[in-house]
Amino acid sequence: MMQFNDFQIPGVIRFGEGALATIKDEVLSKNPSKLFIISDKGVEKAGLVDELKEVLETCEIPMETMTDIAGEPTFSLVEETIKTLNQSKADFVIGIGGGSALDVAKASAALQDKHDLENYFSGKKTIENRTVPCVLLPTTSGTGAEVTKNAIFGDEVEGVKRGIVSPALLPDAAIVDPELTLSCPSRVTAASGVDAFTHAIESYISTNATEQTRIYSEKSMKLFAEHITNAVHNGSSIEARTGMSWASLLGGVSLANAGVGAVHAMAYPLGGTYHIEHGVANALLMPFVFKVIGKTCTDDMVRVASFVEIGDFTSSKHQALEAVVHYLLQLLKDLNLPTSLKELGVEKADLPKLAEQASQVKRLLSNTPYRLHEDQILGIYEDAYEGGKGGSNGS
Ligand SMILES: NC(=O)c1ccc[n+]([C@@H]2O[C@H](COP(=O)([O-])OP(=O)(O)OC[C@H]3O[C@@H](n4cnc5c(N)ncnc54)[C@H](O)[C@@H]3O)[C@@H](O)[C@H]2O)c1
Repeated sequence: MMQFNDFQIPGVIRFGEGALATIKDEVLSKNPSKLFIISDKGVEKAGLVDELKEVLETCEIPMETMTDIAGEPTFSLVEETIKTLNQSKADFVIGIGGGSALDVAKASAALQDKHDLENYFSGKKTIENRTVPCVLLPTTSGTGAEVTKNAIFGDEVEGVKRGIVSPALLPDAAIVDPELTLSCPSRVTAASGVDAFTHAIESYISTNATEQTRIYSEKSMKLFAEHITNAVHNGSSIEARTGMSWASLLGGVSLANAGVGAVHAMAYPLGGTYHIEHGVANALLMPFVFKVIGKTCTDDMVRVASFVEIGDFTSSKHQALEAVVHYLLQLLKDLNLPTSLKELGVEKADLPKLAEQASQVKRLLSNTPYRLHEDQILGIYEDAYEGGKGGSNGS
């Protein structure tokens, strides 16, 4: 049977310093009667919501703002946001913020006219269309949420995170202005930056990767390696912020079209149970997951090592994986990120339950070129619990 690969991206991806000001063109082209801005308190405090509103005021269209989006948002928050959006009678949604605000914005816009939300949240139904226009502006680099057809939320009842997936979640326009990330705190810069790298490396080795998605993931990894340290330790560098904005955007495009894998599958229960930030969970798990799954993609590990410039392993292929794992562990230290699950307050007794939950994230595990069983997942959690210093090596 013939197999085809679709490549899906938002209608417009606009990148560049000062791109925020051009949002008025996107708004005016749709002739809306009222705008609804979705963001969070941190982004508002940094002055970015006011900056956006100042630009939008020139459109002379009424607007309402909701800045109550909590980090690692839940399905009930989406429900609440949709209620407020519908009460406002706005017909144009703008999300400005990190992945949390953008996910709520894109899901609210796409679900605003749907009645049986439960079915969409549980995945029984897929969103087929979106009637309200949506524009997204990321302020972290990042999740790439502005270009993905996923939105991830916590399910408070089951204590897990789950994604909803539909092309209707792609915005009409993604406006990526690196200046919006200048105020991003260093811990968020580090965690969301490594998240971007996780998207790039996991989509690069994904069983759904294509020649096209690999172009994006390769470039994303190269830009990440070049700019992450400076972005974290010298946040006012627009060069570093621009490099990381590209890394995030390109990683997001490759994630949206090739999928991510076991690192994300194992991060979801940590987010659901312990509310550990998504980027931190991914960053911490990545070296321990790759220690195991990297064995099945030796050639890819040689290439990744060359992208992040840690050596040429073409004539010593089997040393590439060790070098990549070492690089990922060193990153945690260099970027002041936690180095063990223990340090994050995870209970050792919870690891079997977390492994059971992660083994259910089949949508992502099936993208990984190594079939991980529950006991192997548990082994990886145990390794990560001790920060690699315990007995288990997860294999
Ligand atoms: N849809 C997707 O494809 C996708 C991909 C990856 C992650 N995610 C989701 O994204 C969420 C995480 O997003 P995130 O890592 O961007 O963090 P976030 O959106 O939760 O933001 C983290 C903190 O940083 C602050 N912040 C963000 N930008 C700022 C700025 N420029 N200046 C000052 N403060 C700023 C926020 O106020 C918040 O307090 C998770 O819920 C995760 O599941 C979604």
